[in-house]
Amino acid sequence: MQLKDARIVLTGASGGLGEALARQLAGAGAALLLTARDAARLAAIPLPGGSEVQRLAVDLTQPAGVAALAGAAHAFRANVLINNAGIGGFGLLEAQDRATVDAILATNLAAPMHLTQALLPLLREQPAAAIVNIGSSFGSIPFAGFAAYSAAKAGLRAFSQALRRELADAPVRVLHVAPRAIDTPLNPPAVVALNSALGSACDSPDTVAAQIVAMLQHGPDERHIGFPEGLFAWLNGAAPRLLDRGLAGKLAIIKRHASAPADAR
Ligand SMILES: NC(=O)c1ccc[n+]([C@@H]2O[C@H](COP(=O)([O-])OP(=O)(O)OC[C@H]3O[C@@H](n4cnc5c(N)ncnc54)[C@H](OP(=O)(O)O)[C@@H]3O)[C@@H](O)[C@H]2O)c1
Repeated sequence: MQLKDARIVLTGASGGLGEALARQLAGAGAALLLTARDAARLAAIPLPGGSEVQRLAVDLTQPAGVAALAGAAHAFRANVLINNAGIGGFGLLEAQDRATVDAILATNLAAPMHLTQALLPLLREQPAAAIVNIGSSFGSIPFAGFAAYSAAKAGLRAFSQALRRELADAPVRVLHVAPRAIDTPLNPPAVVALNSALGSACDSPDTVAAQIVAMLQHGPDERHIGFPEGLFAWLNGAAPRLLDRGLAGKLAIIKRHASAPADAR
């Protein structure tokens, strides 16, 4: 896809990865409709001049927020939807309350599905269109301490694959990308400390954004970012017991960081 012809709805535009995506996409000449809940942060995103940019503050966990964004996307004549908005969710499942689990599933899984549904009639009318779902390596390598988040991201991966198969006869590509850890505010201090204790690599938002922009331009439509995460994702599908055993050795470290004071999580 030529980015100068792209009219992109980008959710989570005020976050670490979202802001990097907005900057790179605007720099490549795409028109942008940027969204997040916090209007002030959204308005403050610095972007290169020259591109058409609109901003709309909505909460995507609310039906009214999805409807408002869908209406704006139709008026904007969008041909690309990037489902990037998300929240983290570090903690042992037993220690998380129902509202936390519901928010993780609503933001990371249900919201992208509802928004995709609302925009599909518009996307189908375009000569070339794309839906980009930002998943996570935890969607293929479900991790202790991230049960609800892993479930949401595994759901988003399955949703992306099913939809790609459903739209095989339509001019709408469905992309799914699974980044490993990214250096953004999504990760509270306890997760940063956990990643460091486990020796997990962490990419910059700009590095990840550049790979997503390249996927939109040239493919592929499905991608894990990082080695060995891509290999472990494959291994988890082929021989999950091997990963059960490998990850059991890390459980004590994960539990220690999951019991960090609440303001570090
Ligand atoms: N950081 C990582 O380690 C990592 C790794 C793999 C995948 N990812 C994925 O990458 C994506 C971007 O994450 P990030 O790291 O850039 O996180 P981030 O810096 O925390 O940004 C999250 C964005 O989502 C928006 N958002 C959150 N809840 C929302 C809601 N209910 N309605 C509308 N917008 C909402 C936030 O803005 P408001 O708060 O103003 O709404 C913000 O713009 C997420 O899907 C995340 O799961 C992140």
